[in-house]
Amino acid sequence: MAVRDVLRMGDPRLRRKSDPVDDISDSALGDLIGDMLDTMRACDGAGIAAPQIGVPLRVVIFGVESNPRYPDAPPVPMTVLINPDISPVGADSDEAWEGCLSVPGMRGLVPRFSRIHYRGLDAAGQLIDRTADGFHARVVQHECDHLDGVLYPDRIEKKQMFGFIPELLEAGLLGPVELPAE
Ligand code: NI
Repeated sequence: MAVRDVLRMGDPRLRRKSDPVDDISDSALGDLIGDMLDTMRACDGAGIAAPQIGVPLRVVIFGVESNPRYPDAPPVPMTVLINPDISPVGADSDEAWEGCLSVPGMRGLVPRFSRIHYRGLDAAGQLIDRTADGFHARVVQHECDHLDGVLYPDRIEKKQMFGFIPELLEAGLLGPVELPAE
């Protein structure tokens, strides 16, 4: 397993639609998941999607254990999610600050559905079927967007609420960050 380079915004590979995983037992899939875990941990990320390391497959990993750097981030179970399918539960949405390993040094205020239902397979091919809200729902929506070539800046509605961290802090705009990235 290895820590891989994370592609940054501007790389066209982040903008393509990724392909479904056909064969869950393929050993290359296990290697990919191992590399994603190593890379996410090395970057202190809350999640990572396969296209961020240049692999156009519908695989995401996310999870937040209690982290003294982010005391306000509620724990989310460490999850490998293959071929995910998401649907909103209700129409409520809320806004929170996000970052992304592919957009280093920046933050943006992003609206997301407050509550979602998601399904997919874990690394063993078992069905994951969950309802999530708040931070957990946000992480899943952010990571799954990567599989369709969508980056969080695309979702920002208030363009002044996007920028570099020191400038946002200086301006008093940046609140608690929901997706710790760097
Ligand atoms: Ni991201």
